[in-house]
Amino acid sequence: MTKKTEYLQKKYEEMKEEGLTWKIRDLEGPSTAHVTVDGKECIMLASNNYLDLANHPELRKAAKEAVDKYGAGAGSDWSIAGTMDIHEELWDKIAEFKETEAGMTYQTGFAVNAGLIPQLLEKGDLLISDELNHGSIIDGVRLSRADKMIYGHSDMGELEDCLKQAQEEGYERMFVITDGVFSMDGDIAKMDEIQDLADEYGAMTYVDDAHGEGILGDGRGIAREFNLEDRIDVEMGTFSKALGGFGGMLAGDEGLINYAYNTSRTWLLSAAFPPHVAAVNIKALDLVMEETERVEKLWDLTEYFKKEIESLGYDTGRSETPIIPAMIGDSRKAQKLADRLYDEGIFALAIVYPMVAKGQARIRNQINAGMDYDDLDYILNAYEKLGKEMDLI
Ligand SMILES: Cc1ncc(COP(=O)(O)O)c(C=O)c1O
Repeated sequence: MTKKTEYLQKKYEEMKEEGLTWKIRDLEGPSTAHVTVDGKECIMLASNNYLDLANHPELRKAAKEAVDKYGAGAGSDWSIAGTMDIHEELWDKIAEFKETEAGMTYQTGFAVNAGLIPQLLEKGDLLISDELNHGSIIDGVRLSRADKMIYGHSDMGELEDCLKQAQEEGYERMFVITDGVFSMDGDIAKMDEIQDLADEYGAMTYVDDAHGEGILGDGRGIAREFNLEDRIDVEMGTFSKALGGFGGMLAGDEGLINYAYNTSRTWLLSAAFPPHVAAVNIKALDLVMEETERVEKLWDLTEYFKKEIESLGYDTGRSETPIIPAMIGDSRKAQKLADRLYDEGIFALAIVYPMVAKGQARIRNQINAGMDYDDLDYILNAYEKLGKEMDLI
């Protein structure tokens, strides 16, 4: 008898044929700059652990102590009985880190965007979103009852056209939503211009700082980078990238925070993350606020790698951050290059459709502060050898 779900297997086979499927590789041990992947020692070029905090001894210690004090799980949804004092301590720490009136956590960054964006506006209001915003923003926008306009990526002329049209059509409440750092290209939103335009036309701003925290603005993120600490209306982010922990964060004024946790279904109807996760996140924020040398090292390595890989003949697209893509185009070629890099002991990821548009496949290189210049030279040599072998450079 054929299985009713056989069509799914067929679809999967078709995607596989086109080079559009994920190859899951297993890390055997912690995520650091040097890892063991499927039994092979590799330099890690594919993690979001930009500051190499995920295996930091102080974060590990914080987790162990919290397990001893609070146990393994939170026991409930945040809204029912899952919010512990250590979670609340983290909320205050987020406000301190982001320099806002208040802060709070969600289970993940995805849960902030998917849960809060639909609650920000009503039918008859307007969301204006960059075309390359992260999938979690796209889902949040889709779930909203507000009208939507999409502007070309970082195209300030198009954004202004949207705002003008909105003004003419008489919208009273609008949000401009943008990634701070675009996760597939590594470019930075023109946040100062976006904020000025939003102010001029009476719109509010919402920024996803997932790849900016720990990196931009001495580690404090995009608001500090552009001196917009008291102008951006809603800032969300995640502990799962440069901060080395786990969970989503939201920062803004008291009114926003009180409203957010009373209305976001992803927050209300989902369990709190375990207390040791809160402890890890608190420690990570402390380290980033106290020790800026990790951020400085990350930028030094980033500048070196970008300059050198471009001089080999690779196109790094719009990169301005430790996300440095090597643009390849064809998804099968990108997959093959990732496989060949792995053979050389480099764990790099091919990013293919639907993560990026068809024909824009790339290897997304992500620099980690735990690397040194020898690691980067080793990677660059491999890129040179394989690029020639595969006719890419
Ligand atoms: C721009 C952006 N926003 C949000 C998220 C989601 O964050 P989290 O991993 O905490 O769900 C990601 C992660 O992929 C991201 O890149």
